[in-house]
Amino acid sequence: MQVRQATIEDLKKVQELNQMLFDWEVKAFNVPWNRNWPQENEQYFRTAITDTKKYLALVAEQNGKIVGYVISVIRDAPSYRTEKLFVEPENMFILPEFRGGIAAYRLVEKIKEWALSKNADYLKFSTQSANERMLSLFRKRGFKDHQVVLEMKL
Ligand SMILES: CC(C)(COP(=O)(O)OP(=O)(O)OC[C@H]1O[C@@H](n2cnc3c(N)ncnc32)[C@H](O)[C@@H]1OP(=O)(O)O)[C@@H](O)C(=O)NCCC(=O)NCCS
Repeated sequence: MQVRQATIEDLKKVQELNQMLFDWEVKAFNVPWNRNWPQENEQYFRTAITDTKKYLALVAEQNGKIVGYVISVIRDAPSYRTEKLFVEPENMFILPEFRGGIAAYRLVEKIKEWALSKNADYLKFSTQSANERMLSLFRKRGFKDHQVVLEMKL
């Protein structure tokens, strides 16, 4: 299992995995995601891969086949915080048959390395509160529960 930065040749594959993420989340958590978003937003993936100052697009590869990805972004911290910069993994997906291996761990470690190299002050990610696997992955890698977001469907 190898983790590397995505290149523009990986664009379609990353977009495809993001589509799988949308479909999976809708099925798993009944969330109101627009399932056309991945096809309609090729530019987001293109930017994430090419704008390496702002984004880190990583792919996990097994025997030359891409089996997972994660896109992270570095942003200015909100002005009410004392810190300046934070890194946020925005979307991540590993093919079901490659879960439970070393891929997720390596991807998270690479994000941490990148965040440190960028002098970011903190890392942040959010996910569905029911996504125990994602929460467990990040908690075990040093993330602490910080904020809780409540929503009410109207
Ligand atoms: C989230 C995801 C990237 C994690 O990758 P993974 O290979 O499954 O990660 P791991 O196997 O290391 O699982 C993380 C931890 O959760 C635990 N876990 C596995 N299944 C679990 C479950 N159903 N409930 C709670 N914890 C679970 C694992 O044991 C592991 O803990 P460990 O490090 O002590 O072994 C992957 O599961 C995935 O692609 N899920 C679907 C997409 C998704 O949820 N993306 C995130 C939303 S943006």
